[in-house]
Amino acid sequence: MKAISIGLLGLGTVGTGVVKIIENHQDKLMHQVGCPVQIKKVLVKDIDKQRDVSLNREMLTTNPNDILQDPEIDVVIEVMGGVEDTRQHLLSALNNKKHVVTANKDLMALYGSELLTAASDNGCDLFYEASVAGGIPILRGLVDGLASDRITKMMGIVNGTTNFILTKMAQDGSAYEEVLKEAQDLGFAESDPTADVEGLDAARKMAILSTLGFSMKIDLDDVKVKGITDITEEDLEYGKQLGYTMKLIGIADLDDDKVEVSVQPTFLVESHPLASVHNEYNAVYVYGEAVGETMFYGPGAGSLPTATAIVSDLVGVMKNMRLGVNGTSAVTPQYPKKLKEAHE
Ligand code: NAP
Ligand code: HSE
Repeated sequence: MKAISIGLLGLGTVGTGVVKIIENHQDKLMHQVGCPVQIKKVLVKDIDKQRDVSLNREMLTTNPNDILQDPEIDVVIEVMGGVEDTRQHLLSALNNKKHVVTANKDLMALYGSELLTAASDNGCDLFYEASVAGGIPILRGLVDGLASDRITKMMGIVNGTTNFILTKMAQDGSAYEEVLKEAQDLGFAESDPTADVEGLDAARKMAILSTLGFSMKIDLDDVKVKGITDITEEDLEYGKQLGYTMKLIGIADLDDDKVEVSVQPTFLVESHPLASVHNEYNAVYVYGEAVGETMFYGPGAGSLPTATAIVSDLVGVMKNMRLGVNGTSAVTPQYPKKLKEAHE
């Protein structure tokens, strides 16, 4: 039985988790897809770096073409981050008929349409569950689980780093810089944490969620954004005295074909369910016309939670390979109608 061969782009926080799950859950993967899964090559920047997983040195490379041009590699898993080079790598992988799984919301929020078109043109899957809310299967929840409903609103906490910072500042009175450093050490923050604290990471996720939820292309610059950099320990303490908790909240609202999407720090009454979502955890409320209110909750960042979403996407790809189909599940159809056109 031929093994499925994987090329991994990146071996940092998330990539390490992917290697561990593929190694430790090999029986479960065999049971799901009926063949072994093997990581063949891994792209890194620094081959000599000390790592949390032990891989043969020959498996590591600094040349992306060792993966993108290797005809034996079936699936490329992208967990290196970045936009321009990564976009070219993924286009090259798809054009070489490799399925792609990615955790890259920066890329999907900006170039999702182009990459999904390339996937479809090449008969490949492109899955990206890990790009929003880490280990929570929110994209599948929207695209598959709520496929029959008309989503009217989504509201939630979609950035783990800022939720971790606000939680620690409010609970222990910790200083902003100190908790940000802790979030970086725990692997929650982006390599440049500006995207987290200025709300851009949450905006990217809200653009992806609302594109899927409302079946309409929502661009990143359609999202109004304010981050948490101005928030002080005193603000949180005053709020607490009045019975409020501050969270960075993303809201996407559909009203008569008009969509409003925003991300901003918001005081919630302490009894609000989102007020008790702490640390790196995320939660998203989804309101559907027929289903009413549903809430998705779980770890929004971190190595193994995020890797779970990636390896589950990999299982989806492998099931499709076995059936000889592609494009099912978390792959979105194309949405030609843009938000701006819908408003005209
Ligand atoms: P990370 O810890 O910084 O790891 C990045 C990895 O990619 C490293 O192994 C690095 O190599 C490699 N890399 C980066 N640029 C490269 C280049 N130009 N050429 C070759 N290798 C390169 O990042 P991460 O936290 O795992 O995040 C990876 C992706 O997942 C990002 O898109 C992020 O937004 C997304 N994501 C992260 C989380 C999370 O909780 N961390 C959750 C959801 C999604 P070296 O190891 O040699 O430096
Ligand atoms: N930096 C991101 C966060 C990682 O803190 O939510 C998960 O997407």
